[in-house]
Amino acid sequence: MSKQDKAKTTEVEPSRRSFLTKLWIGLGFVALIEIAGIVIAFLRPRRPRLSETNSEAIITAGPVDSFTPGSVTAFIRGRFYLSRLEEGGFLALSRKCTHLGCTVPWIEKDKKFECPCHASAFDITGDVINPPAPRALDIYQVFIENNIVKVNTGKLIKRSEFRAEQVVYPEKKV
Ligand code: FES
Repeated sequence: MSKQDKAKTTEVEPSRRSFLTKLWIGLGFVALIEIAGIVIAFLRPRRPRLSETNSEAIITAGPVDSFTPGSVTAFIRGRFYLSRLEEGGFLALSRKCTHLGCTVPWIEKDKKFECPCHASAFDITGDVINPPAPRALDIYQVFIENNIVKVNTGKLIKRSEFRAEQVVYPEKKV
């Protein structure tokens, strides 16, 4: 290598080194900004989703008398079934099977819910009548205001089995 070539190489080396140094500083700066963004997003209070707000979660099912005793009505929007038991009380049942979460249809002719995935079955109260489902269908809070049935789909209530106190009855007419 000639003296001139050596001189050129030593001139190029510092500028390449300084370019790489600047590149690393730049990348470090970008990484720092990303980390700061993640930390800020983590610390900021979470805004509830629309579906979690109360006004969105409450579904007006309809007047008490529009549900025949012994009937099951599907509510697509709220993803629940409204069961009206023979005695007149109401239960809002989740559509989700408690085995592995498949959607459970109501089979009107058999008067039971039957899961298409592994054949679990549930009665009109959501209680298990055929395993492998380990427990009754989950329920939502039902309340009756001015003879109108409403369901709060904002909070799922897990239960192991059906119990009489889960049923909500309309006020008796005087
Ligand atoms: S998911 Fe319903 S029986 Fe398995």
